[in-house]
Amino acid sequence: MSKHDKQEMIVRHKLFDRICHWFIVAVGLVTFLTGFSIFFPSFQWMGAIAGTPQLARFIHPIAGLMMCLPLMLLLARYYHHNKWEKNDLKWMLAIKDVMFENEEGIPPIGHYNPGQKVLFRTFVVTSIVLTVTGIMMWQPYFAPYFSGVVVGWAILLHAICALIMMIFVIVHFWMATWVEGSVAGMLYGKVSKAWCRKHHPLMLDEHSDVEKKH
Ligand code: HEM
Repeated sequence: MSKHDKQEMIVRHKLFDRICHWFIVAVGLVTFLTGFSIFFPSFQWMGAIAGTPQLARFIHPIAGLMMCLPLMLLLARYYHHNKWEKNDLKWMLAIKDVMFENEEGIPPIGHYNPGQKVLFRTFVVTSIVLTVTGIMMWQPYFAPYFSGVVVGWAILLHAICALIMMIFVIVHFWMATWVEGSVAGMLYGKVSKAWCRKHHPLMLDEHSDVEKKH
């Protein structure tokens, strides 16, 4: 790894995507706290962020939409980086080397690793289901248009997807903070070429292709 590589920075996340991401994190926190306070009586204290339980109920669907719609936009913008690629299966089979950071055994991967791609797909499914079921159960505006049984199913699916999303966000947070330089990339937009060579080597090829075109 040359000194030049360590210093030379390349763009990994554009400003618009970074604003979108951190906006999702901020309203996502309000959504999860108010949502938990509504669903589980023992977690009612979490709704204190809204002031009263009534306000938590009022704010939750609005915050939920403010989280899910930008999330869908972000997912659409990142879709091209998350397609399955040739080395992804090999990378998954070498998961032991990945976990123990045994670099020689890890097949080179591109912009995102298969673990991130699985997370990406989970966010796609859960954000869509949470939005659709959330609208269906929204009292007093939309719920009256559906039968009690349908709303019951919507509530169950909503709770399951919220739990799945929460678990995956925890995994996402853990992975993001585990890989040094990753959060800085999402904050400031740039990562060093050395970082790419270590974590996403094929991204450098994509980057040089883009540079050649310009
Ligand atoms: C809890 C705090 C969070 C932190 C510290 C965090 C950190 C990050 C970082 C560092 C990246 C870039 C990863 C890379 O460059 O390889 C990223 C990407 C991303 N994050 Fe987060 N994130 C957080 C919460 C969330 C939440 C709540 C969501 C949505 C539910 C989310 C959705 C995404 C998506 C969709 C991407 C793009 C990943 C892809 O295209 O595969 N993040 N995050």
